[in-house]
Amino acid sequence: MKVLILGEIVGKAGLMAVRDLLRPLKKEKGIDLVIANAEGVTSGYGIGVQHAMTLFKYGIDVITGGEKIFYKLDMQDFIGRKDRILRPANYPEAVAGRGARFVNVGEDKVFVLNLLGNADMLSTHLANPFIMADSMVSRAQAETPYIFVVFHASTTAEKGVMGYELDSKASAVIGTHCKVMSADSRILSGGTAFISDNGRCGSFMSVGGFKPENEVHKMVYSTFMRSFECFDDIRLQGVLVTVGRDGKSQSIERIDVKDTASASES
Ligand SMILES: [Fe+2]
Repeated sequence: MKVLILGEIVGKAGLMAVRDLLRPLKKEKGIDLVIANAEGVTSGYGIGVQHAMTLFKYGIDVITGGEKIFYKLDMQDFIGRKDRILRPANYPEAVAGRGARFVNVGEDKVFVLNLLGNADMLSTHLANPFIMADSMVSRAQAETPYIFVVFHASTTAEKGVMGYELDSKASAVIGTHCKVMSADSRILSGGTAFISDNGRCGSFMSVGGFKPENEVHKMVYSTFMRSFECFDDIRLQGVLVTVGRDGKSQSIERIDVKDTASASES
């Protein structure tokens, strides 16, 4: 089974990259399932309902989130009705939405689990993601060997620990949130594919998908300034994981495709 896990989709540039590049890539690589973090697809801050629906239309099967998943008010209401949009499972149970689901892929079932880290996450204070991952993954193992964990976390240490904690139990542990593709993709000794961060769909020549001038001003002068979307050098990034019938990963390939079709629009 081939599963593509796209890096965080940032703003309109990210939408354009997915629109232009996802379908040809799926065909070329024979991809069975597409998972993507999209908590920044609406101008970089949150995900509105219309943008979520557009992403499904472009070929994404499951959307995951992080600390920004509830930024848009319409999503707070909608997420409880759309089980293909996940919010981190370690939010309190009373919070709308769900953190995991089984997805049918042909005759097979794939378990997708979304968790949020605690290190350097100033706006959220969620339950221990490791304990939750252990219990949810071991329950899912009774149903399927195909288990994908998307861990939205800030530090490479916390993400690395999750990789090793779930090694041999999950098919893949994929880090998101930093929006910069890390060079540490590998298969751990127990057969779990791992990367600290699977990059970004959006502008590469930017600061996290935003125009550099404003981001520089904010940090240099410590004063608030709006972030603006950037369209310079649009890329589709992520990782393609190939998993055997035993649930062990056979390969993890870093994907980084330039969106040349969008150049005339930006
Ligand atoms: Fe995030």
